[in-house]
Amino acid sequence: MKTNHRIFFQNAKKMKTLKSGSIDLVVTSPPYPMIEMWDEVFKTWNPKVKTAFKEEDGNAAFELMHHGLDMVWDEVVRVLKNGGFACINIGDAVRTLHDHFRLYPNHARILSSFYQKGLSPLPAIIWRKQTNAPNKFMGSGVLPAGAYVTLEHEYVLVFRKGGKRTFDTVDDRADRQNSALFWEERNQWFSDVWMDLKGARQDQVDKKVRKRSGAFPFELPYRLINMYSVKGDTVLDPFLGTGTSMFAAMAACRNSVGIEIDQNFSEVIDAQFGSIVNFSNDHISERLRRHEAFVKERLQTKGPLKYTNCHYGFPVIMNQEKNLMFNPLQSADKTGAGCFEIAYSEETEIKNFQQTKNVDKSGKKSFQQLELKM
Ligand SMILES: C[S@@+](CC[C@H](N)C(=O)[O-])C[C@H]1O[C@@H](n2cnc3c(N)ncnc32)[C@H](O)[C@@H]1O
Repeated sequence: MKTNHRIFFQNAKKMKTLKSGSIDLVVTSPPYPMIEMWDEVFKTWNPKVKTAFKEEDGNAAFELMHHGLDMVWDEVVRVLKNGGFACINIGDAVRTLHDHFRLYPNHARILSSFYQKGLSPLPAIIWRKQTNAPNKFMGSGVLPAGAYVTLEHEYVLVFRKGGKRTFDTVDDRADRQNSALFWEERNQWFSDVWMDLKGARQDQVDKKVRKRSGAFPFELPYRLINMYSVKGDTVLDPFLGTGTSMFAAMAACRNSVGIEIDQNFSEVIDAQFGSIVNFSNDHISERLRRHEAFVKERLQTKGPLKYTNCHYGFPVIMNQEKNLMFNPLQSADKTGAGCFEIAYSEETEIKNFQQTKNVDKSGKKSFQQLELKM
């Protein structure tokens, strides 16, 4: 089994390279309107944003930035298949303009934009980001009534195009069964508050680069891809950045397409690609280890589990988990500029594969050595 991954360095406002109805799932995080680190990007999108800031007109700046994003959302709606999902990670912003401090509710603006374009909003996820910084509180300290609660969460908005996806052929149904999650993962992942992403491995890219690129943790797209698509599907990230969604798709045995305007990211992406086989297989091993620990604890507290997984022979809670199987990565090959291919082992055993081929010289640098030329 193989998957293909393609990066186009182009503007996501017009995804000419993508056919209508060709994408099963979109997972992305755009530049955040009204968050200072993205101001310059929005000014290049539309020079009127610069004028709005000069005039300290927050409402106008907010709307102009979202008009730009709306063009990308139009394209997302066009390229999605009927029954496909879009998951948008976004945070709100607070800002003082004209001596006026206020919230700019990005999540509400994007929710209403997708809704108006005809997609169905589904229950969203709140990603709780814990911060222990003592200076995190805003406003008048302990004096009422001029203090503001801190923003310690972001959203993952979830939408579906059209009605429920159907699985009509025997092969479709087999792929779906094969892509099942563990029962205990379902309970955690399908909860509407995610608290625990911090512990997930997210150190593939140097911390400074992650911060400057606004990268999300690997676990975020990895979960969403496993929750809203099946193996062999195609996942799109129109704001690819350091490539996190693409790597999550590789680890989850999905194909992917990434759009990114800034070519400087290719070096960081190649560097991560150099270790994707081991990284993904470690991630799969960790899921298996966690299931084994869950089973051990469950046997002690609640007695035997009802079903047995036919690939691994371990107990599972639901009949639907019987065919669940992970595909260990066997090799990773860079087949051309922005083109990557992953081959998967047919065996469930995770061996120490490590054959990443054709990675550029720059891709062999350690993550710590990399700095974006931005
Ligand atoms: C929040 S970051 C995405 C980070 C990504 N999720 C990751 O894990 O690295 C937004 C990305 O959008 C890119 N971008 C900005 N304008 C764009 C445009 N018009 N088309 C495509 N990408 C764009 C930026 O260069 C940046 O990498």
